[in-house]
Amino acid sequence: MTTAQPRTQVMTQHRFGGPEVLTLEERPRPVPAAGEVLVRVRAAGVGPEDGQARSGSAPVYGEPPFTLGRDVSGVVEEVGAEVVGLRAGDEVFGLVDGGGHALHVTAPAGHFAVKPSTLDHVRAAAAPTAMLTAWQALIDIARVGPGTRVLIHAAAGGVGHAAVQLAKAEGAYVIGTARADDHAFLRDLGADELVDDTATDFTTAVHDVEVALDLVGGAYGPRTLGTLRPKGLLVCAVPGDLGLAPEEVEARGMRFAIVQAEPSADRLTKIAALLADDRIRLHVDAALPFAEAAEAHELGEAGGVKGGLVLVMPD
Ligand SMILES: NC(=O)c1ccc[n+]([C@@H]2O[C@H](COP(=O)([O-])OP(=O)(O)OC[C@H]3O[C@@H](n4cnc5c(N)ncnc54)[C@H](OP(=O)(O)O)[C@@H]3O)[C@@H](O)[C@H]2O)c1
Repeated sequence: MTTAQPRTQVMTQHRFGGPEVLTLEERPRPVPAAGEVLVRVRAAGVGPEDGQARSGSAPVYGEPPFTLGRDVSGVVEEVGAEVVGLRAGDEVFGLVDGGGHALHVTAPAGHFAVKPSTLDHVRAAAAPTAMLTAWQALIDIARVGPGTRVLIHAAAGGVGHAAVQLAKAEGAYVIGTARADDHAFLRDLGADELVDDTATDFTTAVHDVEVALDLVGGAYGPRTLGTLRPKGLLVCAVPGDLGLAPEEVEARGMRFAIVQAEPSADRLTKIAALLADDRIRLHVDAALPFAEAAEAHELGEAGGVKGGLVLVMPD
């Protein structure tokens, strides 16, 4: 007698398009390869990269069919050969290379860290991309510290509000750009100065910046160069045309870097420590049932979301 292979559900798509292309389907449950873990997803983040991959505006996973979802929090159900440090039953959060909008996902064990028990799956699912991007930009690349004057564009978004709190935790002086409606939210998170960039030209309102994190792209990068003090550093998370080659930026006495979020159990473990005792408290604007993934995409694309958006998987 053969045993039927266990099943799972995925939110997949067979063509590029709007949120309506997302469709819930049954699949065989994946099996972890050597070095991988199988995670029963409890909650998964929905970010701009999901929308870009879904619509085809950025070729993240190539041609459909594929399953979106990079940020997940859940429970290890099975470990593949050669996995050390994680075992079945561990509650983990991490960054996977797609496939997270599902009841189960497999990924290398090194993409996950143990979730603090004080953090629920919904908040943990909002953390990986936002916190890893902020950590790599502000700690690893820029090495911000006490008193560093930091400018964060799109400060109220998923990455932005994580970056504001991480910079404050390092003792930096934080200037954020965001629409006026978001200023009270950002002040509560510790931002020292806020500019409503929908009403004011930030290049005239902001000066003497040592580290700028650009989470908007387009003209924001080149315009931000004018706010930097000599030797100031611009870190771009949204690739765009600076209008200057990196060496020209340096010739003008400024520095430039690109950040790309990467999975790292080591960084996630350090991030977990900051989240465990609320030194950084990520805000989830909306947590929707898994079956309402399309609504979550619509919400994200309508703008005005503070912090992150999360899908909650059924039991
Ligand atoms: N390089 C990487 O590894 C990496 C990692 C994560 C994210 N990213 C990129 O970084 C950006 C932010 O990501 P996120 O997750 O924080 O997104 P998010 O949560 O959707 O937030 C986006 C923020 O950008 C603001 N915004 C949108 N268009 C703007 C404009 N034209 N001018 C000024 N502000 C604008 C939004 O403000 P309103 O809501 O008020 O419009 C919102 O606060 C996205 O482009 C994303 O693709 C890159």
